Amino acid sequence: MSYLMSNYMPLDVTFTQGNGCYLTDTKGRQYFDALCGVGVTGLGHAHPAITKAIQSQAEQLLHTSNWYHIAHQETLAEKLCTLSNMDNAFFGNSGAEANEAAIKIARLHARANNIDTPVILTANQSFHGRTMATLSATGNPKVQAGFAPLVSEFIHVDFNDLIAIKQHENNANVVAVMLEPIQGESGVIIPDDTYLNQVQAICKDNNWLLILDEVQTGIGRTGKLFAHQYNNITPDVLTLAKGLGNGVPIGACLAKGSAATLLTPGTHGSTFGGNPLVCRTALSVLSVIDQDNILDNVNKISSYIASNLSKKLQNNTTVTEIRIKGLMIAIELNQPCAQLLQQALDQQLLINITGQSIRLLPPLIMNTQQADSMIDTICNLIDAL
Ligand SMILES: Cc1ncc(COP(=O)(O)O)c(C=O)c1O
Repeated sequence: MSYLMSNYMPLDVTFTQGNGCYLTDTKGRQYFDALCGVGVTGLGHAHPAITKAIQSQAEQLLHTSNWYHIAHQETLAEKLCTLSNMDNAFFGNSGAEANEAAIKIARLHARANNIDTPVILTANQSFHGRTMATLSATGNPKVQAGFAPLVSEFIHVDFNDLIAIKQHENNANVVAVMLEPIQGESGVIIPDDTYLNQVQAICKDNNWLLILDEVQTGIGRTGKLFAHQYNNITPDVLTLAKGLGNGVPIGACLAKGSAATLLTPGTHGSTFGGNPLVCRTALSVLSVIDQDNILDNVNKISSYIASNLSKKLQNNTTVTEIRIKGLMIAIELNQPCAQLLQQALDQQLLINITGQSIRLLPPLIMNTQQADSMIDTICNLIDAL
């Protein structure tokens, strides 16, 4: 009998050690981690510089409270804002919390504009988290099932469909559009190149906030530090988590312009959010990304994987589509493939299955040999279907 609640269904493996792109289980077997704790440990496990930053901060100071200045938090806010062209930051402990802050900012934007029943447009098949507000924002009935009454008012529109958004232009209660630049949890759904630019133009015309949830796409995952940089835009609100701490829990909500003025003393907070340990860790993550030219590696490996996967799978009739941006990868099959999760594990490869697709979020530090071996294993699994 387990003393854990039954909300997870873990595979039958326990990892005791991590090193770079690999995890080792209790039996000493080594696995290639092509999932990175769902897009978290992009810089690999036990990265020496990050480990050192954590160790040295732990020796110095773990936690105080947001009732006092926290130097690393202030430095991290400045660094993230400089890198993203945003104005200020709030720190929480997860992606959901970052999005909660964004939703609260949208509500305050409504108040500032005398709108009493504000509506936020979000996308079908989106994922924004598991708290009550973020699961209500999420465009997936499975995530919401059992939890009604949901937080109102979210209206879900089709992703990558500008008309679906424009149809709400005459709804005076709409205050924001909240989107993932690439939908991650629903299987790496990549919109048209100019979709975000056009959504931003609609938002500007209507005084709506553009909230981009880069919890999964941010921090180098797509080959730019932030995915929206492919569009040369700056959102009003930007949320981050996952890769920012490389395994240490941190979430950030950044805001720009009038959106950056809405949280005032007492309106929001978090006991742990932005403590010295996590902020020092996130600062070391950002320096590793910069110093080790991680974005160049992501782009190089991404093209390598894209061309090799399509070469190897071109005559495979089971594969219907390969979607890849940076190191967000989905291989769509023409049939359910849940069994591949265990089969990949047996081959010492960690992957995810989303619907009928194999989803990979491999380490941003991986090399071409590791890509070869990951591709071989996956192609063999697909061939054996
Ligand atoms: C785009 C996006 N937003 C929010 C979340 C929720 O983040 P967390 O699990 O850290 O609360 C996730 C998690 O997968 C995500 O992919």
